[in-house]
Formats: sequence, structure tokens, C-alpha cells
Amino acid sequence: MVSNKIIAKEWDTNAIIRHNQIKSGMDISYHKILIPSIIKALGNIKNKKGLDVGCGTGKITRILAKKTKTMIGVDLSKEMIDIAEKESLNVPNISFIKTSIESFQKNHPHNTFDFCVSNMSFNTMPNLNKVIRSMSLLLKNNGILVFSIAHPCFWNFYKRLEPEDSFEYLKNHNMRVKFTISLDQKGLPEKTTYFHRPLEYYSKLLVKNGFIIENLYEPFPSEIIHNLYPQKWLFPHFLIFRCQLYRFCLF
Ligand SMILES: C[S@@+](CC[C@H](N)C(=O)[O-])C[C@H]1O[C@@H](n2cnc3c(N)ncnc32)[C@H](O)[C@@H]1O
Repeated sequence: MVSNKIIAKEWDTNAIIRHNQIKSGMDISYHKILIPSIIKALGNIKNKKGLDVGCGTGKITRILAKKTKTMIGVDLSKEMIDIAEKESLNVPNISFIKTSIESFQKNHPHNTFDFCVSNMSFNTMPNLNKVIRSMSLLLKNNGILVFSIAHPCFWNFYKRLEPEDSFEYLKNHNMRVKFTISLDQKGLPEKTTYFHRPLEYYSKLLVKNGFIIENLYEPFPSEIIHNLYPQKWLFPHFLIFRCQLYRFCLF
């Protein structure tokens, strides 16, 4: 069983290089696809209280802090949180906590956030049921959850993580893989654990925890953005969910 402790160690080791990939602008998908998609999926967040789950170095937390009232970022990795704090010294309405979302939920009043966001973190989380449950407890009723994941239908074909004839789409499974981006094939120093889950599983967990899926996005680069990549996309690489909490649906 992969534990949160193992995941924290992986991201501790990778924090500085991941920060450089993001800060240098080298991660095209991050800046040109994921951030705009998350902002679009969130819609109007003026004057709200937001939570960034698995916030990493806090790039998205900072972008959202400019658009809303307050942001809290939580992450398992101390190294990630240290960078997030250093990069946010001049941002008054932001705070970061080194914790799992599961523990944060136990120590923070429930029913207090207007929205939760999580960019590309669900694929690194061993206990996704507990994570989604934590978010549903922390959100106010009718609160919004927006998250992005590696598209489970296409990620394996794009990244070639497993041979096509032995890839079992319908089976939850995980593997340790090299984290690379188009413009940095050397990638992060430490392999990271990637959790594959079929779409039906995400839907099941969301519904079980009181969420209604309001919208799904499969962002695809425009021609101009496509030209920035060394290779053309053949299919969507990411999937963005926008969900709303209807507490009366909780079992
Ligand atoms: C791929 S990184 C994404 C970071 C960030 N969202 C971004 O967009 O730059 C995934 C992050 O999720 C964090 N993480 C994984 N499981 C977590 C959990 N249960 N609670 C809080 N953070 C977690 C990891 O430590 C890692 O920093």
C-alpha cells in the first residue's frame, strides 16, 4: 500500500526542480492549458474563501488569491510548502499549511469554504475517497469543487507508461513513473507514484460524497499553442471536473 508518507517524500525530493519547471514557463500544459481551464471552470470567485488541495508550490493558489477574498493551500510536502510560502511573501490574503487534506479536515471547521480546487493532484493521492470526503465536509453547501486529472482514457497512450496490451483501464492501479514534460524530458529527479482510476470510479466517489458533476472539460490546444509543443497532441491529455456540493445527497 502506498502511504501519504511515501508521496510526501517523492514531492519533497522533486520540489525545487518542479518549481523551476513552473517558474521558467517551460511547462506549456501547466500555463497554457491547465491554469486557463481551471479559471474558466471556476467562473466568478469574487469575494470567496478558497482551498487549494495539494497546492504544491502554490502557483495556482496565488493566481486565485488575486481573484478572490482568501486562499489557503495545503500540501503533504514540506519542501513544496516552503517554496509556496517564500513565493507568496507579498500576497496578504494567502496562507499555506503542510498537512494532508485528510488531517486538515479534522482540525479545521467544516462548512467554511466556498470553493475547493485541486490541479493534477488526485493522481498522486492514495486515499482518494477520504480526500473527496474531506473536501465535501470542508465546503459549504452548494460549494464548488474544480479539479484536473490526467485523462484516464488517453494518458497511458500518450505517456506510454504500460504496454497497451496489458493496460487494464477498468482496474484501479498505480505505478512509479518518471515525471517529464514536453520541454524537459530529463524530468524530475525522483519517480512519482501515478494512480490510474477509471472515470466511473471518479463519478462514484463524487456522487457518494454529495457532489453533482456540473461540467466536464477536455481542453485541447489552439493552433498557436499547439505550435509551442515539440509534438502534436493526438487526443486530450487532461480532464477538468466542475462539481457542486448538495449536502442533502450525502449518504
Ligand atoms: C502533481 S503535484 C501538483 C501541485 C500543484 N497542484 C500544482 O498545480 O502545481 C501533486 C501535489 O499533491 C500533494 N499531495 C498528494 N496527496 C496529498 C494529500 N493527501 N493531501 C495534501 N497534499 C497532497 C503532493 O505532495 C504534491 O505536491
